[in-house]
Amino acid sequence: MADILVKSESGALIIDGKAASAAVLADVAKGAAELIAAGIKPGLAVVLVGEDPASQVYVKSKGKAAETCGFHSVQHTLSADTSQADLIALVHKLNADPAIHGILVQLPLPKHIDSQLVLETISPSKDVDGFHPVNAGLLAIGDRKRALVPCTPAGSLILLQKAMESLGRSIAGCDAVVVGRSNIVGKPMAQLLLSENATVTIAHSRTKDLASVVKRADIVVAAVGIPEMVKGDWIKPGAVVIDVGINRVAGEGLNAKGEPRTKLVGDVDFAGAAKLAAAITPVPGGVGPMTICMLMANTLTAARRTKG
Ligand code: GUN
Repeated sequence: MADILVKSESGALIIDGKAASAAVLADVAKGAAELIAAGIKPGLAVVLVGEDPASQVYVKSKGKAAETCGFHSVQHTLSADTSQADLIALVHKLNADPAIHGILVQLPLPKHIDSQLVLETISPSKDVDGFHPVNAGLLAIGDRKRALVPCTPAGSLILLQKAMESLGRSIAGCDAVVVGRSNIVGKPMAQLLLSENATVTIAHSRTKDLASVVKRADIVVAAVGIPEMVKGDWIKPGAVVIDVGINRVAGEGLNAKGEPRTKLVGDVDFAGAAKLAAAITPVPGGVGPMTICMLMANTLTAARRTKG
């Protein structure tokens, strides 16, 4: 992978997620070409229910990335009033389709649908989101060879590994603090760090004196979904900071249409943290671009496994 670390004015290395994700996508495309030559074309099915604008954007990007990688890519767009039974029937059909190796049902689903039930209907071997309890369990017992690992934590680990490598450090033995305990990011991230032999703390909204818990961390992963909640002066000098948050907040002034400007910020006060951290991911352009490329990597993995 090309160098993905850029020296900033504050002295911290900025971890370039766009460059890292381009490198992963290039590797996936190469792997897909080899698999296609061996007679298996990786296939990804993305299911979108309803018309949530953010979900429409995500799903479109996922389809585009799949095509870039040379995959067979299909999108199923269902109306917001689709019944749970119809959605589950579609998942069963995709489970049985030999041309499909990865299935992703875009979240959130409409309120009348039990999301967990739908996610648990996806065959674990096609669960490229890594959200099925079988995959969560495989990750928890440290069996990354058989698991499909959730994309955002898997991409965050790649960025962390690259930063640590470039600093001449090892993750093993480090104090790592994950702020946030979601099933999608916080818990699987903690499992990945543990499997890399870090000493892992999961902090959350009920953690007492969060500032001092973060202050002792050599590695901080912030995944709480609260804009700039982790303050710059909480960071231990020389720590590596991975910011998973993507929050839209009010910006300054008006845009060309005369509307109030907005901007994206992470869960970490970037300007403050960059003064103390050895390396940090920006928002946007850090963890964000890694999620989609890891989805492609998982689809390739799922397709390869059908070959044994
Ligand atoms: N909605 C927002 N992020 C994700 C994701 O990673 N997977 C799915 N299935 N839905 C999402």
